[in-house]
Amino acid sequence: DTPTSSRKREHLNICCERSIEAGDAGFSDVRLVHSALPECDMENIDIRTRFLDAPLESPLFIAAMTGGHPDTMEVNRLLARAAEAYGLGMGVGSQRAALEDPTLEESFSVVREEAPHAFLCANLGIMQLRDHGIEWAERAVEMIDAQAIVVHLNPLQEAIQPEGDHDAGGCLEALRHLCTESKVPVIVKETGSGVSRAVADAVRGAGASAIDIGGWGGTSWAAVECLRATDSTLADLGEAFLDWGIPTVVSLAEVREGGGPIIATGGLRSGIDIAKSVALGATLGGMALPLLKPAMQSEDALFAAIDAVHRQLRVAMFLTGSATVRDLGRARTYITGKTRQMIETTD
Ligand code: FNR
Repeated sequence: DTPTSSRKREHLNICCERSIEAGDAGFSDVRLVHSALPECDMENIDIRTRFLDAPLESPLFIAAMTGGHPDTMEVNRLLARAAEAYGLGMGVGSQRAALEDPTLEESFSVVREEAPHAFLCANLGIMQLRDHGIEWAERAVEMIDAQAIVVHLNPLQEAIQPEGDHDAGGCLEALRHLCTESKVPVIVKETGSGVSRAVADAVRGAGASAIDIGGWGGTSWAAVECLRATDSTLADLGEAFLDWGIPTVVSLAEVREGGGPIIATGGLRSGIDIAKSVALGATLGGMALPLLKPAMQSEDALFAAIDAVHRQLRVAMFLTGSATVRDLGRARTYITGKTRQMIETTD
């Protein structure tokens, strides 16, 4: 295994077996305003939506997770089957490992084989984009015949990873270049620390078509790296930053005003959290860990998890009188507690 490849496998195992969630992404401080008079038929609620001009059967998005090690192939195969069967958008994990070692491409291309019609997003870290240029981005898109490319930002993980890259200079310029040259839309995504208004403005200014919040509160790379660390200095550093980042709900409030579609990811744990995200301005709600765990078990377990999310989403839509996802986008919310305090200090 290359170091990048064996890290992919290690990440999957740690995420499934250990406790690696950061805390509260803010959803417990958000309540959708209940409608005692829904005036719509729950059986006919329409959860279809559109993202970057593509029709999707649901606002549930399968967030970027894996590929890059032979052992990750089965997980990607099942996630892709779900994307195809349910008409969901899906991201693959960082394709760096396969760009370094083409024998690993199959662990990604399996996704397109299983999901010939799905909206698929390629994935590359901004540091790799800066270092290897748009040639890598184009190869990543071709590898899975993607409709869009996600450029992920992960300065926290780079800072505390033993093999991390600590020089983040030149990344915005590399992004601008990609946005100018790319044949597919570019989505910029954080990986667990959220996007501020300033960063959203910068990446939109560079030409990004959409933003994936990747907020604090769900899967924590500080926690994962802390558990991977073999030397205690790095483990201590990871631990000190467990609490670092913008919670998903707060980041959503920071980012929503600038326009353009948003994927809310980071700590969404139910169909109700997806409904809350849409009401707060997101186009889609992404889930990683809640789908990874059943996908490591079986296709049935994964499909049952998606059914449960959709059932909750439909009931939440019914109880807010939202016959369509567009209606849900206009649903009112109450925001309380720490989340409200943070949103009020975002000026
Ligand atoms: C991820 N995530 C991720 N994101 C990304 O842009 N590129 C990547 O390669 C990965 N890899 C990855 C592996 C595993 C095992 C997990 C669980 C997650 C981050 C993911 O897309 C998402 O932003 C966060 O996990 C937050 O969502 P959850 O897990 O709280 O629902």
